[in-house]
Amino acid sequence: EMAEKGGYEHFMLKEIFEQPKAIKEAIYGNAEVVERVAEEVAEYERIIFVGMGTSYHAALVGKYLFQRLAKKIPIVEDASEFRYEFEDLIDDKTLVIAITQSGETADTVAAIKLAKGSGAKVLSIVNVVGSLATRIADLTLYTHAGPEIGVAATKTYTTQLTVLSMLAMALARKLGTADEGLLKELEAELRRMPEYVDAVLRLDDKIKGLAEKLREKRDFFYIGRGISYPTALEGALKIKEIAYVHAEGLSAGELKHGPLALIEDGVPVVALAPSGKVFEKMLSNIEEARARGAYVVALGDDIRLSEVAQEFLRMPQVNELLSPIVYVIPLQLLAYHLAVLKGNDPDRPRNLAKSVTVE
Ligand code: G6P
Repeated sequence: EMAEKGGYEHFMLKEIFEQPKAIKEAIYGNAEVVERVAEEVAEYERIIFVGMGTSYHAALVGKYLFQRLAKKIPIVEDASEFRYEFEDLIDDKTLVIAITQSGETADTVAAIKLAKGSGAKVLSIVNVVGSLATRIADLTLYTHAGPEIGVAATKTYTTQLTVLSMLAMALARKLGTADEGLLKELEAELRRMPEYVDAVLRLDDKIKGLAEKLREKRDFFYIGRGISYPTALEGALKIKEIAYVHAEGLSAGELKHGPLALIEDGVPVVALAPSGKVFEKMLSNIEEARARGAYVVALGDDIRLSEVAQEFLRMPQVNELLSPIVYVIPLQLLAYHLAVLKGNDPDRPRNLAKSVTVE
């Protein structure tokens, strides 16, 4: 087993560090097929993303990408809700995009079957080649991440985001819904993504130190806006799964509507603040949390964050539409180090399974 871990202490850490390569494979593996898929799905106006767990968070990022680039307004449902709520709401004018690493998650597979039975078109985004989801969907895009052993999804998430970005860009080009200059910029940045991810992985020691400072904390809040909101949810999920620490992911705008009452001296607030449309708003949310005593860990590329937050993790500058791929990496590492410090086995968290094949 040690050999399989390639010198890393756990599969999860190995898989986190494999992300530059996995993303590269996802890009090259889909360069052509994504065009064909975009061709087949471009005309659908009613689009529903489904998934569970981390794949559900990828679906949420997909929604923002489709909105911003393809000017479509998809719905996102967790597959366990979709399957009992949408029976009579879908038809042959509906496109269901099912995201699942394993291709075997019971609720997601049931959602695909329901969609197919109602005449909808189903596109699956899957990691495991030949899995059930790929056999029943009309179309499949593979994430090409290679096998993922750690129960908590890492490289399969960032490759899901890579594929979704490529699909949204292909749709935008086909439909003429985004500026060509922007698409060119995004394509160039996506090609450089393995380098950006590499740069973020170099923060590992710093993040380990941060985990040591935060190891006794009992509640964590993750906040983000817009396309960073799903990253907040994913960061919180990661530490629940493997560090067994209570965490909430919130849209930063919701902070004032309740959660702020829980912020007191020393409560960690992890703020996802890439430059872009809502950066100034995030700055004021950070100040708001600070004023209540929060211990703020800010991720961003704007140096002003170092003045408002106690901890600043400097991210490479990327377009905010691609930032979810970069910004989730420190959150994976933070969860990993917290888990190890607490004596948990991050590869096999208690009560959880890699793929949930029963309801
Ligand atoms: C389980 C795993 C999660 C995963 C979820 C969905 O809960 O522990 O890591 O995100 O299932 O799995 P899927 O294979 O459908 O992406």
